[in-house]
Amino acid sequence: MNDKSSPTEGMIDYAGNSLPQKHSIQSRADDVREMADKVLASSDDIHIADYGCGTGSNAILSVNPAVKSFADRYPDRSIYVHHVDQAENDWNTLFDCAAGQDGYANISAGVRPVASVGSFFSMVAPASSIDVGTSFGASHWLSKQPVISSAGTLWFADLQGEARLTLKRQAQRDWETFLALRLRELRSGGRLMVSTLGAIPDESEVNGICSSGRHTYRAMYKVAETMVSDGLISEHALRDFVIPIWFMSREEALEPFQRNKELEDGFVLERAEVAPALQNPEDIFSDKIKAPQDYAASYKGFVRSFTESTFRQSLLCGESAHSAETLLNEFYDRFEAFIKDGEGKYAFEIWLLTIELRKQ
Ligand SMILES: C[S@@+](CC[C@H](N)C(=O)[O-])C[C@H]1O[C@@H](n2cnc3c(N)ncnc32)[C@H](O)[C@@H]1O
Repeated sequence: MNDKSSPTEGMIDYAGNSLPQKHSIQSRADDVREMADKVLASSDDIHIADYGCGTGSNAILSVNPAVKSFADRYPDRSIYVHHVDQAENDWNTLFDCAAGQDGYANISAGVRPVASVGSFFSMVAPASSIDVGTSFGASHWLSKQPVISSAGTLWFADLQGEARLTLKRQAQRDWETFLALRLRELRSGGRLMVSTLGAIPDESEVNGICSSGRHTYRAMYKVAETMVSDGLISEHALRDFVIPIWFMSREEALEPFQRNKELEDGFVLERAEVAPALQNPEDIFSDKIKAPQDYAASYKGFVRSFTESTFRQSLLCGESAHSAETLLNEFYDRFEAFIKDGEGKYAFEIWLLTIELRKQ
Protein backbone atom coordinates (compact mmCIF):
# COMPACT_ATOMS: atom_id res chain seq x y z
CA MET A 1 0.00 0.00 0.00
CA ASN A 2 1.45 3.40 -0.84
CA ASP A 3 1.46 6.24 1.67
CA LYS A 4 -1.37 8.06 0.00
CA SER A 5 -3.90 5.25 0.00
CA SER A 6 -6.07 4.64 3.03
CA PRO A 7 -7.11 1.36 4.65
CA THR A 8 -10.72 1.67 3.49
CA GLU A 9 -9.99 2.80 -0.04
CA GLY A 10 -12.21 0.91 -2.47
CA MET A 11 -14.57 -0.64 0.08
CA ILE A 12 -16.87 -2.81 -1.99
CA ASP A 13 -20.54 -3.64 -2.05
CA TYR A 14 -21.07 -1.55 1.03
CA ALA A 15 -24.64 -0.47 0.32
CA GLY A 16 -25.92 -4.04 0.10
CA ASN A 17 -24.20 -5.28 3.24
CA SER A 18 -24.55 -2.56 5.79
CA LEU A 19 -27.83 -3.20 7.58
CA PRO A 20 -26.16 -3.14 11.03
CA GLN A 21 -24.65 0.26 10.27
CA LYS A 22 -28.08 1.44 9.13
CA HIS A 23 -29.57 0.37 12.46
CA SER A 24 -26.88 2.33 14.31
CA ILE A 25 -27.61 5.47 12.33
CA GLN A 26 -31.36 5.07 12.79
CA SER A 27 -30.90 4.63 16.52
CA ARG A 28 -29.24 8.06 16.68
CA ALA A 29 -31.65 9.93 14.37
CA ASP A 30 -33.58 11.61 17.20
CA ASP A 31 -30.32 12.59 18.91
CA VAL A 32 -28.99 14.16 15.71
CA ARG A 33 -32.23 16.09 15.31
CA GLU A 34 -32.10 17.30 18.91
CA MET A 35 -28.47 18.27 18.54
CA ALA A 36 -29.13 20.22 15.33
CA ASP A 37 -32.18 21.93 16.87
CA LYS A 38 -29.86 23.52 19.42
CA VAL A 39 -27.67 25.14 16.77
CA LEU A 40 -28.80 28.60 15.72
CA ALA A 41 -27.84 29.67 12.22
CA SER A 42 -25.31 32.47 12.25
CA SER A 43 -25.20 33.33 8.54
CA ASP A 44 -27.26 32.99 5.37
CA ASP A 45 -25.57 29.68 4.57
CA ILE A 46 -25.86 26.61 6.76
CA HIS A 47 -23.25 23.86 6.49
CA ILE A 48 -23.64 20.23 7.59
CA ALA A 49 -20.80 17.71 7.25
CA ASP A 50 -20.84 13.92 7.50
CA TYR A 51 -17.36 12.45 8.01
CA GLY A 52 -16.82 9.02 6.44
CA CYS A 53 -20.27 9.14 4.83
CA GLY A 54 -19.96 5.96 2.77
CA THR A 55 -22.53 5.48 0.08
CA GLY A 56 -26.18 4.66 -0.54
CA SER A 57 -29.06 5.27 1.78
CA ASN A 58 -26.96 5.23 4.98
CA ALA A 59 -25.14 8.35 3.86
CA ILE A 60 -28.48 10.11 3.51
CA LEU A 61 -29.98 8.80 6.74
CA SER A 62 -27.01 10.19 8.67
CA VAL A 63 -27.69 13.78 7.66
CA ASN A 64 -31.47 13.81 7.09
CA PRO A 65 -32.37 14.79 10.69
CA ALA A 66 -29.97 17.75 10.67
CA VAL A 67 -31.15 18.91 7.23
CA LYS A 68 -34.78 18.73 8.36
CA SER A 69 -33.98 20.65 11.52
CA PHE A 70 -32.46 23.57 9.61
CA ALA A 71 -34.96 23.45 6.74
CA ASP A 72 -37.87 23.63 9.23
CA ARG A 73 -36.38 26.52 11.15
CA TYR A 74 -34.72 28.45 8.30
CA PRO A 75 -36.77 27.72 5.15
CA ASP A 76 -35.21 30.58 3.18
CA ARG A 77 -31.54 29.78 3.81
CA SER A 78 -29.17 27.71 1.70
CA ILE A 79 -28.17 24.43 3.32
CA TYR A 80 -24.97 22.75 2.10
CA VAL A 81 -24.48 19.09 2.98
CA HIS A 82 -20.82 18.10 2.75
CA HIS A 83 -20.42 14.35 2.34
CA VAL A 84 -16.83 13.51 3.27
CA ASP A 85 -15.19 10.30 2.04
CA GLN A 86 -12.41 8.90 -0.11
CA ALA A 87 -12.27 9.37 -3.89
CA GLU A 88 -13.21 5.71 -4.42
CA ASN A 89 -16.52 6.08 -2.61
CA ASP A 90 -19.55 5.35 -4.76
CA TRP A 91 -20.52 9.00 -5.16
CA ASN A 92 -23.04 8.40 -7.95
CA THR A 93 -25.16 6.16 -5.77
CA LEU A 94 -24.88 8.63 -2.91
CA PHE A 95 -26.15 11.55 -5.01
CA ASP A 96 -28.89 9.39 -6.56
CA CYS A 97 -30.04 8.62 -3.01
CA ALA A 98 -29.84 12.28 -1.99
CA ALA A 99 -32.23 13.13 -4.82
CA GLY A 100 -34.33 10.00 -4.38
CA GLN A 101 -37.54 9.31 -2.54
CA ASP A 102 -36.04 9.35 0.95
CA GLY A 103 -33.34 11.87 0.15
CA TYR A 104 -33.07 15.36 1.56
CA ALA A 105 -32.68 17.17 -1.78
CA ASN A 106 -36.45 17.34 -2.14
CA ILE A 107 -36.98 18.98 1.22
CA SER A 108 -36.28 22.39 -0.24
CA ALA A 109 -34.71 23.95 -3.31
CA GLY A 110 -32.13 25.52 -1.04
CA VAL A 111 -30.50 22.20 -0.04
CA ARG A 112 -27.28 21.35 -1.90
CA PRO A 113 -25.36 18.07 -1.66
CA VAL A 114 -21.59 18.55 -1.85
CA ALA A 115 -18.84 15.94 -2.18
CA SER A 116 -15.83 16.66 -0.02
CA VAL A 117 -13.35 14.16 -1.37
CA GLY A 118 -10.34 13.08 0.65
CA SER A 119 -9.30 11.97 4.09
CA PHE A 120 -10.96 13.27 7.22
CA PHE A 121 -7.44 13.36 8.65
CA SER A 122 -7.08 16.67 6.81
CA MET A 123 -9.26 19.79 6.68
CA VAL A 124 -12.37 18.98 4.66
CA ALA A 125 -14.12 22.36 4.90
CA PRO A 126 -13.07 25.97 5.50
CA ALA A 127 -12.25 26.99 9.06
CA SER A 128 -15.23 27.97 11.24
CA SER A 129 -17.76 26.96 8.59
CA ILE A 130 -19.58 23.83 9.84
CA ASP A 131 -22.78 24.17 11.87
CA VAL A 132 -23.39 20.47 12.49
CA GLY A 133 -21.11 17.48 11.93
CA THR A 134 -21.91 13.79 12.12
CA SER A 135 -19.74 10.72 11.73
CA PHE A 136 -21.09 7.18 11.82
CA GLY A 137 -19.08 3.97 11.81
CA ALA A 138 -15.97 5.58 10.33
CA SER A 139 -13.68 7.21 12.90
CA HIS A 140 -12.33 3.86 14.15
CA TRP A 141 -10.36 3.51 10.88
CA LEU A 142 -6.78 4.61 11.35
CA SER A 143 -5.05 7.04 9.03
CA LYS A 144 -2.64 4.46 7.65
CA GLN A 145 -1.68 0.82 7.71
CA PRO A 146 0.51 0.24 10.77
CA VAL A 147 3.85 -1.47 10.35
CA ILE A 148 4.00 -3.83 13.31
CA SER A 149 4.51 -7.49 13.94
CA SER A 150 1.27 -8.95 15.27
CA ALA A 151 1.92 -12.65 15.74
CA GLY A 152 -1.21 -14.58 16.75
CA THR A 153 -3.79 -11.95 15.84
CA LEU A 154 -4.91 -9.52 13.17
CA TRP A 155 -6.95 -7.45 15.56
CA PHE A 156 -5.98 -4.51 17.75
CA ALA A 157 -7.65 -5.75 20.94
CA ASP A 158 -5.57 -8.93 21.20
CA LEU A 159 -2.19 -7.30 20.54
CA GLN A 160 0.39 -7.56 23.30
CA GLY A 161 3.40 -5.59 24.50
CA GLU A 162 5.18 -3.19 22.15
CA ALA A 163 2.86 -3.97 19.22
CA ARG A 164 -0.16 -2.94 21.26
CA LEU A 165 1.53 0.23 22.50
CA THR A 166 2.56 1.21 18.98
CA LEU A 167 -0.93 0.77 17.61
CA LYS A 168 -2.54 2.48 20.57
CA ARG A 169 -0.24 5.47 20.10
CA GLN A 170 -1.26 5.69 16.45
CA ALA A 171 -4.96 5.34 17.31
CA GLN A 172 -4.69 8.09 19.92
CA ARG A 173 -2.79 10.38 17.56
CA ASP A 174 -5.39 9.82 14.85
CA TRP A 175 -8.33 10.46 17.16
CA GLU A 176 -6.70 13.62 18.50
CA THR A 177 -6.03 14.80 14.95
CA PHE A 178 -9.63 14.06 13.95
CA LEU A 179 -10.92 16.13 16.87
CA ALA A 180 -8.49 19.02 16.34
CA LEU A 181 -9.48 19.29 12.68
CA ARG A 182 -13.18 19.23 13.48
CA LEU A 183 -12.59 21.92 16.10
CA ARG A 184 -11.13 24.13 13.38
CA GLU A 185 -13.93 23.40 10.92
CA LEU A 186 -16.84 23.90 13.31
CA ARG A 187 -18.04 27.39 13.86
CA SER A 188 -18.54 28.66 17.37
CA GLY A 189 -21.72 27.05 18.75
CA GLY A 190 -21.53 24.27 16.15
CA ARG A 191 -21.94 20.66 17.24
CA LEU A 192 -20.47 17.30 16.31
CA MET A 193 -21.72 13.77 16.94
CA VAL A 194 -19.36 10.84 16.45
CA SER A 195 -20.81 7.36 16.75
CA THR A 196 -18.83 4.23 16.05
CA LEU A 197 -17.90 0.81 17.36
CA GLY A 198 -16.68 0.87 20.93
CA ALA A 199 -15.26 -1.25 23.73
CA ILE A 200 -15.98 -1.71 27.43
CA PRO A 201 -13.75 -2.65 30.36
CA ASP A 202 -13.75 -6.40 31.07
CA GLU A 203 -11.09 -7.95 33.28
CA SER A 204 -11.73 -11.43 31.88
CA GLU A 205 -10.57 -10.29 28.43
CA VAL A 206 -7.04 -9.91 27.07
CA ASN A 207 -5.89 -6.37 27.93
CA GLY A 208 -8.92 -5.92 30.21
CA ILE A 209 -11.09 -4.67 27.39
CA CYS A 210 -14.03 -6.26 25.65
CA SER A 211 -14.39 -4.89 22.18
CA SER A 212 -17.19 -5.00 19.61
CA GLY A 213 -16.77 -7.85 17.17
CA ARG A 214 -14.28 -9.78 19.33
CA HIS A 215 -15.46 -13.22 18.15
CA THR A 216 -15.55 -12.07 14.55
CA TYR A 217 -11.95 -10.91 14.38
CA ARG A 218 -10.75 -14.03 16.17
CA ALA A 219 -12.70 -16.14 13.66
CA MET A 220 -11.08 -14.24 10.82
CA TYR A 221 -7.65 -14.99 12.23
CA LYS A 222 -8.42 -18.70 12.55
CA VAL A 223 -9.54 -18.80 8.93
CA ALA A 224 -6.42 -16.91 7.84
CA GLU A 225 -4.32 -19.48 9.72
CA THR A 226 -5.90 -22.29 7.67
CA MET A 227 -4.82 -20.38 4.55
CA VAL A 228 -1.26 -20.26 5.90
CA SER A 229 -1.33 -23.99 6.71
CA ASP A 230 -2.47 -24.69 3.15
CA GLY A 231 0.34 -22.57 1.72
CA LEU A 232 -2.03 -19.94 0.30
CA ILE A 233 -0.84 -17.02 2.45
CA SER A 234 2.71 -16.72 3.72
CA GLU A 235 3.32 -16.97 7.44
CA HIS A 236 5.17 -13.65 7.58
CA ALA A 237 2.43 -11.82 5.65
CA LEU A 238 -0.13 -12.87 8.29
CA ARG A 239 2.30 -12.16 11.15
CA ASP A 240 2.82 -8.59 9.90
CA PHE A 241 -0.84 -7.88 9.18
CA VAL A 242 -3.20 -6.09 11.52
CA ILE A 243 -6.50 -4.51 10.53
CA PRO A 244 -6.00 -0.75 10.94
CA ILE A 245 -8.81 -0.06 13.39
CA TRP A 246 -9.17 0.77 17.06
CA PHE A 247 -12.53 0.59 18.85
CA MET A 248 -12.17 2.94 21.79
CA SER A 249 -13.51 2.65 25.29
CA ARG A 250 -15.12 5.76 26.78
CA GLU A 251 -11.90 6.45 28.72
CA GLU A 252 -9.75 6.19 25.60
CA ALA A 253 -12.09 8.49 23.69
CA LEU A 254 -11.71 11.13 26.40
CA GLU A 255 -7.91 10.94 26.73
CA PRO A 256 -7.19 13.67 24.13
CA PHE A 257 -9.29 16.17 26.08
CA GLN A 258 -7.12 15.58 29.13
CA ARG A 259 -3.77 16.13 27.45
CA ASN A 260 -4.61 18.64 24.72
CA LYS A 261 -5.44 22.10 26.05
CA GLU A 262 -6.81 23.30 22.73
CA LEU A 263 -9.38 20.49 22.71
CA GLU A 264 -10.19 20.87 26.38
CA ASP A 265 -10.79 24.61 26.03
CA GLY A 266 -12.34 24.49 22.58
CA PHE A 267 -15.01 21.85 23.14
CA VAL A 268 -17.77 21.32 25.64
CA LEU A 269 -18.42 17.62 26.07
CA GLU A 270 -22.17 17.10 25.84
CA ARG A 271 -22.18 13.30 25.85
CA ALA A 272 -19.69 10.44 26.03
CA GLU A 273 -20.88 6.88 26.36
CA VAL A 274 -20.31 3.33 25.26
CA ALA A 275 -23.55 1.37 25.29
CA PRO A 276 -24.86 -1.81 23.68
CA ALA A 277 -26.38 -1.16 20.24
CA LEU A 278 -30.14 -0.78 20.43
CA GLN A 279 -30.83 -3.55 17.95
CA ASN A 280 -29.40 -7.08 18.43
CA PRO A 281 -26.40 -5.98 20.52
CA GLU A 282 -25.44 -9.59 21.33
CA ASP A 283 -25.33 -10.66 17.70
CA ILE A 284 -26.18 -8.33 14.88
CA PHE A 285 -27.35 -11.30 12.80
CA SER A 286 -29.39 -12.99 15.53
CA ASP A 287 -32.61 -12.59 13.48
CA LYS A 288 -31.18 -15.20 11.09
CA ILE A 289 -29.76 -17.65 13.60
CA LYS A 290 -32.38 -20.29 12.79
CA ALA A 291 -31.38 -20.24 9.12
CA PRO A 292 -27.64 -21.10 9.32
CA GLN A 293 -26.91 -20.66 5.61
CA ASP A 294 -28.57 -17.25 5.54
CA TYR A 295 -26.86 -16.29 8.78
CA ALA A 296 -23.43 -17.21 7.47
CA ALA A 297 -24.00 -15.58 4.07
CA SER A 298 -25.14 -12.28 5.60
CA TYR A 299 -22.27 -12.38 8.06
CA LYS A 300 -19.77 -12.97 5.27
CA GLY A 301 -21.24 -10.16 3.10
CA PHE A 302 -21.08 -7.74 6.00
CA VAL A 303 -17.48 -8.61 6.92
CA ARG A 304 -16.32 -8.67 3.31
CA SER A 305 -17.76 -5.22 2.62
CA PHE A 306 -15.44 -3.51 5.09
CA THR A 307 -12.39 -5.80 5.18
CA GLU A 308 -11.75 -6.67 1.55
CA SER A 309 -9.98 -3.45 0.61
CA THR A 310 -7.63 -3.64 3.58
CA PHE A 311 -6.86 -7.33 2.94
CA ARG A 312 -6.10 -6.55 -0.70
CA GLN A 313 -3.91 -3.53 0.05
CA SER A 314 -2.00 -5.00 2.94
CA LEU A 315 -2.18 -8.74 3.62
CA LEU A 316 -2.20 -9.58 -0.09
CA CYS A 317 -0.19 -6.63 -1.41
CA GLY A 318 2.49 -8.94 -2.84
CA GLU A 319 -0.03 -10.80 -5.03
CA SER A 320 -1.06 -10.06 -8.62
CA ALA A 321 -4.60 -8.68 -8.97
CA HIS A 322 -5.82 -12.03 -10.26
CA SER A 323 -4.26 -14.06 -7.50
CA ALA A 324 -5.46 -11.61 -4.82
CA GLU A 325 -8.99 -12.00 -6.15
CA THR A 326 -8.77 -15.80 -6.01
CA LEU A 327 -7.36 -15.70 -2.47
CA LEU A 328 -10.00 -13.27 -1.29
CA ASN A 329 -12.79 -15.48 -2.65
CA GLU A 330 -11.20 -18.47 -0.94
CA PHE A 331 -10.83 -16.63 2.33
CA TYR A 332 -14.42 -15.40 2.46
CA ASP A 333 -15.80 -18.80 1.38
CA ARG A 334 -13.86 -20.44 4.20
CA PHE A 335 -15.03 -17.74 6.58
CA GLU A 336 -18.66 -18.33 5.62
CA ALA A 337 -18.30 -22.08 6.22
CA PHE A 338 -16.54 -21.44 9.52
CA ILE A 339 -19.32 -19.14 10.73
CA LYS A 340 -21.98 -21.61 9.63
CA ASP A 341 -20.27 -24.48 11.45
CA GLY A 342 -19.89 -22.29 14.54
CA GLU A 343 -23.69 -22.20 14.98
CA GLY A 344 -23.74 -18.77 16.60
CA LYS A 345 -20.46 -19.16 18.48
CA TYR A 346 -18.94 -16.21 16.62
CA ALA A 347 -21.75 -13.77 17.34
CA PHE A 348 -20.95 -10.20 16.27
CA GLU A 349 -21.51 -8.19 19.44
CA ILE A 350 -21.82 -4.42 19.22
CA TRP A 351 -21.19 -1.64 21.69
CA LEU A 352 -21.54 1.84 20.29
CA LEU A 353 -19.31 4.69 21.31
CA THR A 354 -21.09 8.05 21.04
CA ILE A 355 -19.44 11.39 21.60
CA GLU A 356 -21.27 14.70 21.27
CA LEU A 357 -19.33 17.96 21.34
CA ARG A 358 -20.12 21.65 21.14
CA LYS A 359 -17.55 24.17 20.04
CA GLN A 360 -17.22 27.01 22.53
C1 LIG B 1 -18.08 1.41 7.55
S1 LIG B 1 -18.22 2.76 6.45
C2 LIG B 1 -19.49 3.76 7.24
C3 LIG B 1 -20.28 4.55 6.24
C4 LIG B 1 -21.52 5.24 6.80
N1 LIG B 1 -21.14 6.38 7.61
C5 LIG B 1 -22.37 4.27 7.58
O1 LIG B 1 -22.44 4.39 8.82
O2 LIG B 1 -22.98 3.41 6.96
C6 LIG B 1 -16.77 3.69 6.82
C7 LIG B 1 -16.56 4.80 5.83
O3 LIG B 1 -15.53 5.64 6.34
C8 LIG B 1 -14.72 6.02 5.25
N2 LIG B 1 -13.42 6.38 5.77
C9 LIG B 1 -12.55 5.62 6.49
N3 LIG B 1 -11.42 6.31 6.73
C10 LIG B 1 -11.60 7.54 6.16
C11 LIG B 1 -10.79 8.70 6.06
N4 LIG B 1 -9.58 8.75 6.59
N5 LIG B 1 -11.29 9.78 5.42
C12 LIG B 1 -12.53 9.76 4.87
N6 LIG B 1 -13.33 8.68 4.93
C13 LIG B 1 -12.87 7.58 5.56
C14 LIG B 1 -14.68 4.78 4.38
O4 LIG B 1 -14.27 5.08 3.07
C15 LIG B 1 -16.11 4.31 4.47
O5 LIG B 1 -16.93 4.85 3.48
